[in-house]
Amino acid sequence: MKKDILVGNNVYWVGYVDDRKVPFHRLVLEKGTTYNSYLLKTEKPTIIDTVDISFGREYVENLKEYINLEEIKYIVINHVEPDHSGALPVLASKAKNAVIVATELGVQELKEMYKLHNREFLIVKDGDVLDIGAKTLRFYETPYLHTEETMITYAVEDKTLYPCDIFSTHVATYDLFDDLAKEDIMADFEVYYKLIMDPHRNYVKEMINKIKNIDIEIIAPSHGYILRSSAKRYIDSYDDMSQASSTNRKAAVIYSTMTGNTKKLANHTMDILSDKGIETTIINVKEESDVEKAKEAVNNSDIIFFGSSTRYGDMVGKIEEVLKDLKDMDLSSKTGVAFGSYGWSGEAVEIIYDYLKASTIQVLDSSNIIKATGMNDVQAPIRVKFILDEDVNKFKKSVDAIGELLIR
Ligand code: FEO
Repeated sequence: MKKDILVGNNVYWVGYVDDRKVPFHRLVLEKGTTYNSYLLKTEKPTIIDTVDISFGREYVENLKEYINLEEIKYIVINHVEPDHSGALPVLASKAKNAVIVATELGVQELKEMYKLHNREFLIVKDGDVLDIGAKTLRFYETPYLHTEETMITYAVEDKTLYPCDIFSTHVATYDLFDDLAKEDIMADFEVYYKLIMDPHRNYVKEMINKIKNIDIEIIAPSHGYILRSSAKRYIDSYDDMSQASSTNRKAAVIYSTMTGNTKKLANHTMDILSDKGIETTIINVKEESDVEKAKEAVNNSDIIFFGSSTRYGDMVGKIEEVLKDLKDMDLSSKTGVAFGSYGWSGEAVEIIYDYLKASTIQVLDSSNIIKATGMNDVQAPIRVKFILDEDVNKFKKSVDAIGELLIR
């Protein structure tokens, strides 16, 4: 049954309880969920996040019971996915004086999604503060938790963190505080982490570093329970889960290079994987003797990066001799990635990809990565034009994301 939920001094939960079986990331949430939206009723009344796009009208009607919508000064959108920003268009149409607050990318996305080009926006960056009258909000950018534009909002005087999806659980209830839950919520809390946050574990670590010295008494996320029994317990849990051991998995980086650019990429790959605790072998396949060493490394590794420069539309060096033999090896438990530097068209990377597809190895490509992580800017196969800084940075980002994915 709906009832008023007071989160803190002049802070009201104004969200929506969705007790359907809710489709979510190709699962069905059997216990439903909530879309938590908060009203901070200060001199400059502020909304933090809205609710799912399906419930915009009910949301706005309910909100009118708490405030004259034209008095709303700010609408903070921590995360643009439509289960939190979906009610923004209908809210903004009534809250005519409100400024919409988001990260730079968030603002771009909101303008495009909801055709809000004529609204006033405020772009905030890491550490920016906003005085809303008797309360101060501070913002922290938390990219990829779980989409790129995401941020969290901290209400300084209230010692309350509004982290949107981070620290969420899925349950449909109006008994929304963790100390009112009828059962231990940790299992649901951890399942949520595994599904949504764990693919971005490195970013979880960055987020923890940003908030670890903040005095937090309440965590008010965007789904499920508001966590007030012990914020530290939940933050520590994320900290522990994000440290998950990087395993005893082994990797190999097997490549041939023309002028040394693909060699640089191979070395970056080895460094990034080694930093994750993955024992990594690197082999430049130049001589006949390197071919056997490379095949042995393939047999001994779980993750294999195969790279070549492109010359005259083809691979260089002896790597093709390794690739030709893959079809006769049982590689079904292994994952392969193609990469390489090129000057014009980069055919070698595509040919490597074809060889991998023709073997039993599980070939990682952008499609797999998007489905596993939601990151659409991670490239695989990974192609780098010459050795341009911008492309190399993208390359490193892609190897990092692939490494995280493969050690889960
Ligand atoms: Fe709850 Fe990423 O949306």
